[in-house]
Amino acid sequence: MDGYSAVAKVADVPSGGRKRIEFDGGRVSLFHIEDEYFAILDTCPHKSTAPLIRGTLDGLGIKCPNHGYRFDLKTGECNISAQFNTQVYSVIIEGDDICIRAEKKLGGQRPQEI
Ligand code: FES
Repeated sequence: MDGYSAVAKVADVPSGGRKRIEFDGGRVSLFHIEDEYFAILDTCPHKSTAPLIRGTLDGLGIKCPNHGYRFDLKTGECNISAQFNTQVYSVIIEGDDICIRAEKKLGGQRPQEI
């Protein structure tokens, strides 16, 4: 589990559940959708205030509770503009621990799609 950190117990995030944890100086939201776990930076990159943990699930995406921008839970991509792409994390399960590792940040690094 190179680079991974245990951040929660499997029992804390049952299927359909979500949990916000502290990680690497920030807040990260964990989601358990069917058989998969996802982790995304909790703070919405649009206004840097809204917590995505309070958002609405839309397939494998989360819609911000403030203005409804959607963030892909696998890639961090925002449906409105690449400038709002956000940080996601790889998730693995080790025993009864949920472990995450930061993936490369997308924000501001992709060319705008037309
Ligand atoms: S603060 Fe999240 S979409 Fe505006």
